[in-house]
Amino acid sequence: MSIKTATINGVATIEIARPEKKNAITGAMYLAMAEALIAATADASVRAVLLTGQPGIFTSGNDIEDFMKRPADGSEPPSIFFMKALIGCDKPVIAAVTGAAIGIGTTMLLHCDFVFVSDEARLAMPFVSLGLVPEFASSLIVPQLMGNARAAEKLLLGDPFTGADAVECGIANAVLPAGEVVNHARRIAERFNALPPGAVRASKTLMRRARASATLETITVESEIFGARLRSPEAQEAFSAFFQKRKPDFSKF
Ligand code: COA
Repeated sequence: MSIKTATINGVATIEIARPEKKNAITGAMYLAMAEALIAATADASVRAVLLTGQPGIFTSGNDIEDFMKRPADGSEPPSIFFMKALIGCDKPVIAAVTGAAIGIGTTMLLHCDFVFVSDEARLAMPFVSLGLVPEFASSLIVPQLMGNARAAEKLLLGDPFTGADAVECGIANAVLPAGEVVNHARRIAERFNALPPGAVRASKTLMRRARASATLETITVESEIFGARLRSPEAQEAFSAFFQKRKPDFSKF
């Protein structure tokens, strides 16, 4: 299993653990993460959720082979179940970004409550370079957080950025030495053991209320375009280039 879960001292940990593929997330892994989030949300003994990866890698994003195999039958992809479970979790979610966070590795952070980034990590949302479009409401939230100019660097050019940039842009709380990021995130998560859980949950819901319906609406619109783009010749060229370890050639489009 490439998702490990454990609940210790009020904190439900969800760990992405597929280091041989740089923690690329498959359909089965999204479903396991969704299940763990739903269980943590329902379990009264859980006061916070900790989302983490492996030393040196948080996640390289969606498994690109899965992208290539996604059926064109209009069914909801497993990533949607994960997204909805994360957005639907009314307990604090704390991310410990242990290394590179690419694609959904960065967009999932937009829906966490606290984000701590290793000083070795790079974040990136290279959807356009893959012939795709932003997902997980990043087309709404990223421009809102940092303005259109900086959002364009990250979403149109797909420029990678550091943890310090992520803090400056409002995506992350702090940068920590690589060896300390998980423990720091866990300590923040454990602080919720001493706080009244009903007040925490109601406050989190209130903090997200103004953007809640726009977020879900944006995810629906993005998903439709994303699904169609997955089958575009541009995306097929980008995916083939990735596995052939060459630069994609978009000159013919
Ligand atoms: N999907 C499927 N396989 C992936 C993957 C992904 N998102 N990311 C990495 N892998 C696989 C590689 O194909 C490689 O497999 P192999 O050993 O069978 O050849 C293995 O994981 C190691 O990856 P590699 O690229 O050799 O590692 P690296 O240290 O040189 O680079 C990354 C690490 C994360 C920078 C690089 O793997 C990468 O850019 N991945 C794709 C990121 C991406 O575009 N994600 C989708 C966003 S929407």
